[in-house]
Amino acid sequence: VNGAWQGRITAAAAAGAAAAALTQRGAHVTGTLTADAGPLHGTFAVSGRVHGGALRLRGRRGRIRLVWRAHLDAATWSGPLAVRGRRTPLRAALALTRDAAGGVRCGDGWFASDVMPRVLVPICAQCHVEGGLAATAPFRVTVGDAGATVLSALREIDAGDPSQSKILLKPRAALPHGGGQRLVPGSAEDDVLARWVALVTAPGCGPAGGGGGPRTGAQLWADECASCHGADAGGQGEAPNVRCATRVDDALGRGRGTAMPAFPELLGADLSALESWLDGLCTTYGRTGAALYAGNCATCHGPTARGGRNALGVAGPGIACEGGGDYQEKVANGDGRMPAFPALDRTDVDLIVSFAHAELCTGG
Ligand code: HEC
Ligand code: HEC
Ligand code: HEC
Repeated sequence: VNGAWQGRITAAAAAGAAAAALTQRGAHVTGTLTADAGPLHGTFAVSGRVHGGALRLRGRRGRIRLVWRAHLDAATWSGPLAVRGRRTPLRAALALTRDAAGGVRCGDGWFASDVMPRVLVPICAQCHVEGGLAATAPFRVTVGDAGATVLSALREIDAGDPSQSKILLKPRAALPHGGGQRLVPGSAEDDVLARWVALVTAPGCGPAGGGGGPRTGAQLWADECASCHGADAGGQGEAPNVRCATRVDDALGRGRGTAMPAFPELLGADLSALESWLDGLCTTYGRTGAALYAGNCATCHGPTARGGRNALGVAGPGIACEGGGDYQEKVANGDGRMPAFPALDRTDVDLIVSFAHAELCTGG
């Protein structure tokens, strides 16, 4: 049952959406169940067992407890849901089907890589957790489970007017907030959260997630690449500046061993969108010899062109002081394990040579 599930709760009094993020180890299952059905709403921590086609989960949220007994039919788990701890016990039916989109929504990557660790866990989880001051508020942070938290956070977004979203206005204390002011507009944390709101409300990215239209290059970058290469693609840590990279298709198709995963699902229209977005950055920040070298040559020949080895184990020799003719020849035709770079013209290579000779070929 590992993964993301979506479906519906139906009861005489209420009906609405439900979603779960579950982890299975052996027969033991843990995770969260998020309900949005009239009086039954919020995120429940759940645990239980799966045995063959039978699943039994117990969950709680504050004083409210639920038990779900489900059986598997084709790709859907369904069965009765009993809810206690309310004035009137609720009997409902819950059916969950594997989230066909794999739970991918615009902003999900950014949410997990930045919004959770930089804002929701350090700040909001002081109160918006089981047992916290805001335990009964609908907005719930489930530490360690971005999938469940994102579902809860999406409810606090105003798709019609994103600037009026409660998830921003409450912690800014622009609306009365039981937790007082927790975010200062313009601060790094506020910016991380505001950018997520902008991502999920961008055209074609309805907060319901179902729409899931094509993502723009900027969205793809923020979701899939920014956590390693930096928000502006300028590089950080081991991940190089790739603003002027010309072999994005190769990097996405094959990945880079343990350094970077492959992204085969992005090789169609998404690849073009990413390439255009990076081309724009290359122009904005400058198509310089340094940027061309960093994005195309540095992984194999080393950041200072004294020789290196990329994450796939291809070793390039030191080339800092190599003659310009040799550069032109190798870049045009490749050599052995060095690929050709058809997207780099002679001017580009001249820029790389000038950069290497002036900046890197020092001390002999
Ligand atoms: C010190 C405790 C505390 C902290 C920290 C806190 N909150 Fe709250 N929050 C509350 C309380 C209490 C409520 C319920 C009363 C209310 O609605 O203002 C609440 C309500 C909310 C609501 C309204 C929920 C709804 O649907 O009605 C949102 C949205 C919210 N908080 C967002 C946040 C965000 C985002 C953060 C982190 C940046 C945060 N809060 C940090 C205490 C806190
Ligand atoms: C988990 C971190 C990580 C993520 C996520 C990631 N990268 Fe990388 N990427 C790296 C690292 C590290 C390298 C350098 C690999 C090496 O040294 O061979 C790299 C290399 C590259 C290269 C190739 C540079 C070369 O000369 O071989 C390109 C292009 C690239 N990344 C683009 C992207 C794009 C586009 C995305 C998003 C779809 C992305 N990366 C996501 C870490 C990442
Ligand atoms: C995937 C790894 C890889 C990348 C990326 C790469 N190279 Fe190479 N390069 C090599 C290897 C391996 C050799 C040695 C080829 C041989 O002799 O078999 C080499 C050789 C060269 C040589 C000749 C060095 C000599 O001693 O004869 C030059 C010049 C060179 N590369 C320039 C570049 C430039 C400029 C770029 C970026 C536009 C680049 N390379 C990108 C792997 C790479």
